Amino acid sequence: MLINKQLLEKYNIPVPRYTSYPPANYFNEEFDYRQAVNLIEKSNDEEPQNISFYLHIPFCSQLCYYCGCNTHITKDRNSILSYVEILKKEILLYKNSLSKDRKISQIHWGGGTPDYLDIKSIKEIMHIFRDHFNFIEDAEIAMECHPAHLSFDYLEELVNLGFNRLSIGIQDFDKTVLNYVNRALPNLPVEEIVHFLHKKNVSVNLDFVYGLPGQTPESFRQTIEKAITVSPDRLALFSYAHVPWVKPHQKLLEQFHLPNAEYKTAMFEAAYNLLTESAYVSIGLDHFAKPNDELNSALNNKSLSRNFQGYCTRETTGQVYAMGVSGISQLSSGYLQNTKDINSYREHIEKGIFPFEKAYFLNENETLIGKIITEIMANRFISFDVIEKKFNISYEEILKITGLDINTLKEFEKEGLLEISEREISITHQGMFFLRNIASSFDPLLKNSKKQFSKSL
Ligand SMILES: C[S@@+](CC[C@H](N)C(=O)[O-])C[C@H]1O[C@@H](n2cnc3c(N)ncnc32)[C@H](O)[C@@H]1O
Ligand code: SF4
Repeated sequence: MLINKQLLEKYNIPVPRYTSYPPANYFNEEFDYRQAVNLIEKSNDEEPQNISFYLHIPFCSQLCYYCGCNTHITKDRNSILSYVEILKKEILLYKNSLSKDRKISQIHWGGGTPDYLDIKSIKEIMHIFRDHFNFIEDAEIAMECHPAHLSFDYLEELVNLGFNRLSIGIQDFDKTVLNYVNRALPNLPVEEIVHFLHKKNVSVNLDFVYGLPGQTPESFRQTIEKAITVSPDRLALFSYAHVPWVKPHQKLLEQFHLPNAEYKTAMFEAAYNLLTESAYVSIGLDHFAKPNDELNSALNNKSLSRNFQGYCTRETTGQVYAMGVSGISQLSSGYLQNTKDINSYREHIEKGIFPFEKAYFLNENETLIGKIITEIMANRFISFDVIEKKFNISYEEILKITGLDINTLKEFEKEGLLEISEREISITHQGMFFLRNIASSFDPLLKNSKKQFSKSL
């Protein structure tokens, strides 16, 4: 067995996914707007200098019952067009606040379903970016797509606009599973989409979710077998996060049999074995890439990083400025989250003010903890020499700030999850499956927390 069963039972507990530190449910609604704007101004003088933009397009044509994203189900094209108009104004707000000599290294369109937008809207937005900002060479322009809305003409237009990374939500190739979860089927055969994009030098990621009703380890194995023949550059295998207290529609899936943790692990193991025995290497928690992919090179030289949009390399990572409802800006000194309400979003932007609803201003200790947690989650490695130097701090102070209990670390070591040498901690192959648990031992906020998180597996 790939994953130790006893450890699985012990560690399958609610822990944060650590896409940010602190996790988003710690962000505050009570904050000073001026201080939030200062955070953006201050970010101009902070590292990394590059700019990453995230655009949230919340619209979808149909609700997938497992969905944990921020979505609005609509068929009303006019309301989508009016949202695009507001988004364009929000870009200009950022243009006025960001220093002219900074360059865009990444634009990520997420959702919702960005490819539900008509191509004219995407063109208009991309032109605003091109007209008002400078780009680094080879900037990453990425979009999350639902294959139900993709046609070859649409894909061609995206390529012409500079999109060079597409992530396509497959979830499962099995139509029975897609029916259970109320998901629309792809408009084109996925292998043809991938082939078309590869001919245009576009990197392709495929998303899958395991733990959905109707899935079995064997059916999921077959889905991944098919995925391998399609040959994407990257794959993401997400463990279904069942959080009906946040997403009540997920209760609709409880009428079916939801696979338990053991069954889910068997699905993951079947997929993991297939992928790693073929042309893929595992990156972090749930991502896989071809060995020549830059994510793997970054992992090998310990320069992999992570933000809300997933794994990224240090070269392309910028501070993230998020636009659109619910978007979260990830700046060096804090986080700013936009309102989730489209009307309130519109009202703020029309008045020329940022639509922030929540904020979190990081202190030095939290920045240090965030750095350690990112190193664990992304590079599976901590060098205390590097941390001490970067933060000008001693080993003893690091222990005090993180509240790390050295016995917990020793227990992880005894269980074969990590190796401790004098100045370093390396996560082992087995430890890779428990990254969230290991990271949480460096998180002092979690110790007295009453917050709810999804289970780690
Ligand atoms: C914004 S969607 C991708 C684009 C498009 N809306 C689609 O569904 O194809 C982001 C991804 O999050 C994953 N996802 C959504 N809800 C999830 C959940 N509850 N648990 C785990 N993964 C989830 C899916 O794999 C999905 O592809
Ligand atoms: S999974 Fe994608 S398409 Fe389905 S509801 Fe969520 S965001 Fe929309």
